[in-house]
Amino acid sequence: MKLGVNIDHVATLRQARRGKYPDPVEAAILSELAGCDSIVCHLREDRRHIQERDVYLLRKIVKTKFNLEMALSEDIIKIALDIKPDQVTLVPEKREELTTEGGLDVIKFSEKIKENIKRFQDNGIKVSLFIEPDFAQVEESKRVGADFIEIHTGRYADAENEEKIYEELNKIIKATEYSISIGLRVNAGHGLDYKNVKKICKIKGIDELNIGYSIICRSIYVGIYQAVKEMKEIIEKYERENN
Ligand code: PXP
Repeated sequence: MKLGVNIDHVATLRQARRGKYPDPVEAAILSELAGCDSIVCHLREDRRHIQERDVYLLRKIVKTKFNLEMALSEDIIKIALDIKPDQVTLVPEKREELTTEGGLDVIKFSEKIKENIKRFQDNGIKVSLFIEPDFAQVEESKRVGADFIEIHTGRYADAENEEKIYEELNKIIKATEYSISIGLRVNAGHGLDYKNVKKICKIKGIDELNIGYSIICRSIYVGIYQAVKEMKEIIEKYERENN
């Protein structure tokens, strides 16, 4: 199971002073040196953290895989088609939200999503859809031609008791199995930290976990190299235990 590091919140700190540091580009280099498998960032319409300058530089320096999270707005689509990341992950976006709050409704927006998946794929860009662990959304993701889905793990991460944790975990396991059975590759992410990631690592068939906030928070104390290395070690350890 691979680890994608989301560096948005390095940029959040920089934007607090509209300054030059900390620089998400430096964070990407250190994360790769620490062993991550991809770099993820979200260019939001309101540019609250990642800026255009960042995505252009990241495209040049990322040596693993560059995964750009984005909403389907024409302004952002143009930038994505210009920089050509290795992958885009399509997410819903509301200006007032603190972070991405739910999965994409692939059923409701299927025609728009399908057209744009083709635009990206024609430019050599793989497409992942960030969705809830819901069979109907998985099926529609396959129908519109996505390469990957990313299962939203936020409800699992926020679950407040054992019963709810297992209920949400079970949905993620079932959605993973179903996606693989119909030929979709599976990533997962949102709200994962050094503790709750352990149960997710044991799920067979997930390609990659995309983790941001918990790693950037830990990096304040131990540095980003160490924070990424620790997460990578946990994933490897718990994945191995299940095999
Ligand atoms: N995956 C997607 C699609 C996201 O939108 C985010 C948050 O930007 C993440 C993963 C990472 O979530 P977190 O920062 O909570 O680890």
